[in-house]
Amino acid sequence: MSQKLQQKLAERAAQNTLRTLKTTTGLVDFCSNDYLGLARSERLRALIQQEEEHYRHLPLGATGSRLLSGNHSLFEELEDTIASYHQGEAALLFNSGYTANVGLLSALPQRGDTVFYDEASHASMKDGLRLSYAKTYSFRHNSVEDLRQKLKHATGQVYVVVESVYSMDGDQAPLRELAQLCNAQGATLIVDEAHAVGLYGEKGEGLTVALGLQEQVFAQVITCGKAMGCHGAAVVGPRVLRDFLINYSRAFIYTTGLPTHALVALKCAYTLLPELKPERERVQQLATRLYLKLNKLSGIRCTPENSMILSVFPQQPQQLKALAAALQQDGFDVRPVLPPTVPAGTERLRVIVHAYNTEDEIDGLVQALAKGT
Ligand SMILES: Cc1ncc(COP(=O)(O)O)c(C=O)c1O
Repeated sequence: MSQKLQQKLAERAAQNTLRTLKTTTGLVDFCSNDYLGLARSERLRALIQQEEEHYRHLPLGATGSRLLSGNHSLFEELEDTIASYHQGEAALLFNSGYTANVGLLSALPQRGDTVFYDEASHASMKDGLRLSYAKTYSFRHNSVEDLRQKLKHATGQVYVVVESVYSMDGDQAPLRELAQLCNAQGATLIVDEAHAVGLYGEKGEGLTVALGLQEQVFAQVITCGKAMGCHGAAVVGPRVLRDFLINYSRAFIYTTGLPTHALVALKCAYTLLPELKPERERVQQLATRLYLKLNKLSGIRCTPENSMILSVFPQQPQQLKALAAALQQDGFDVRPVLPPTVPAGTERLRVIVHAYNTEDEIDGLVQALAKGT
């Protein structure tokens, strides 16, 4: 058996796509999803410590599935907060964004239904759909036209599944057009807001609310491990959806609920989130600076404009790993993203800009990239 596994690993190594775990300390962060700096916020840490005292009567761990011993008032209080923050009727917490997508997409579409998902959708959405009995088809990334054509052949209840800001490409879904099309065709729109929460909207509600589409989006997936600096996720939508998931979502039913400290942390993060407008603006400002400077370098293409998730494509993709290693040597934590995470031929450096990055760090990264390409 071990030999077979070794062989599979050797295949990855031969393709130069072997994944290994690394611990990095002391490098300038151009890699994490802590866009607003909440995961490192001393203010948030202090608030959590203070608030934890109020919940001493609750167990440390949930002690069971929420349908058995694992439910308590803080879950429900937090779900109400999350639902109203993202302007939905109700919310249901899951243990992570991965689990929320699997739990939602495996349960909601039924046999005979049809789901169309953007080809660039996150692995958790694809995995959820693989567990569903519905027919599932991808459509070309951000192509409303391709979706329109494919919708003609749909049967049963039709679902359209997208991310609002794509985790790898950093670009935004054409949510207005998608909502219009879904409306016209009677399709149900589901939006994963993982990389938009915290960053878009007056209070960081996400792109759905920023565009005023909350009535047209049936369910929003809100993840809390990225700009929220915490952990967990919630599906926000109509109350009947929450009740349905409590009854049918296996990823919700057959697992222990989140521990109390995770819920307290999340509650505190939601109290700080509305005030982080300066951080939201700074991220965009620094991202534009990096985008403009990188696109002036010869031999480098950087996309997209106006996003804190940037993809940097050097002329020689086979040197990506070496280039990332050289950047790390220079003190910048930048990682290559390789197949199968992204399609072959689209391997890139994924650079994430944060509110706590400085102009000097941005300029330093540009210089280091100029040297390495
Ligand atoms: C679009 C998208 N959805 C869901 C997830 C999963 O979220 P979590 O890390 O909370 O499991 C991610 C994280 O990589 C993501 O990028």
